[in-house]
Amino acid sequence: MPDVSLLEEVVADATPLLGQGKVANYIPELSKVDGRKLGIAVCSSDGGVVGAGDFQEQFSIQSISKVFSLVQAMTLYGEAEVWSRVGKEPSGNAFNSLVQLEHECGVPRNPFINAGALVISDLLQSRLSTPKHRMLELVRELSGNSQIFSDKAVAQSEYQHMARNAAIAYLMKSFGNFHNDVDQVLQTYFTHCAVRMSCADLARAFYFLSNKGVGLDGKRVLPEKQNRQVNALLATSGLYDGAGEFAYRVGMPGKSGVGGGIIAVVPGEMSVCVWAPELDENGNSLAGIAMLEMLGKRLGRSIF
Ligand code: DON
Repeated sequence: MPDVSLLEEVVADATPLLGQGKVANYIPELSKVDGRKLGIAVCSSDGGVVGAGDFQEQFSIQSISKVFSLVQAMTLYGEAEVWSRVGKEPSGNAFNSLVQLEHECGVPRNPFINAGALVISDLLQSRLSTPKHRMLELVRELSGNSQIFSDKAVAQSEYQHMARNAAIAYLMKSFGNFHNDVDQVLQTYFTHCAVRMSCADLARAFYFLSNKGVGLDGKRVLPEKQNRQVNALLATSGLYDGAGEFAYRVGMPGKSGVGGGIIAVVPGEMSVCVWAPELDENGNSLAGIAMLEMLGKRLGRSIF
């Protein structure tokens, strides 16, 4: 377990990177976030959380929600039902790209690009009567924080700028790989992306990924085998077109969001969350990756 002073050092050493990235502005509501925020939190095997910087401030989790959605789909459906609808390969393209879908019969490369997450949301819509509420229940339960909500203004802003996600969903529907009403699923997906959590909340919530599928409260979230599979997918596709560079520099399964958060896992040891809203060209937090790289180096941790 790293001590607070090490985490404070990581935040201080990442501070000079501020100004080098760009806060996401394709969702107007997200562009209002202060780009100078920096936070890090670590949750280790004794269940304790240590953090530094803005680690207690809640932010828009965005694509990090795709991991929670996948976990729900894996518990609601059999293996073949999930993986016939979405692949397990890195895309090598931007997170919101449409190009592969046309050539690949409307089956997205993986569950973490937008197309894949939309298929997963479609699966959830088919099985859950209130998928938006179920997501909140799950994140509250996993993090032990009942004060987690979805930001209506952010979800609304995404809805108003839905063209690309709607195009992706309709293209998949034309191939028969999208079963519900597109508008309804988009609303669920945007509501999930607009959930606000802090680094501390997220480090706690993803503790199960570092603990063979068992959460902080001792309850099993995923069977051990599926937990390993989720970590494998995070390692290969969690940072989109930046997944290779992330594996090279950080060496941990991880998932980013355009809100500037990244969660990362050291199996058997700890879950980490960093937050820095300015993004690199792949839509991943620039200072966030640097903080995880520093943490891994200073603790001598990598899965490779
Ligand atoms: O659908 C979108 O574009 C956003 N709600 C989520 C994208 C995202 O977080 C990609 N992450 N780096």
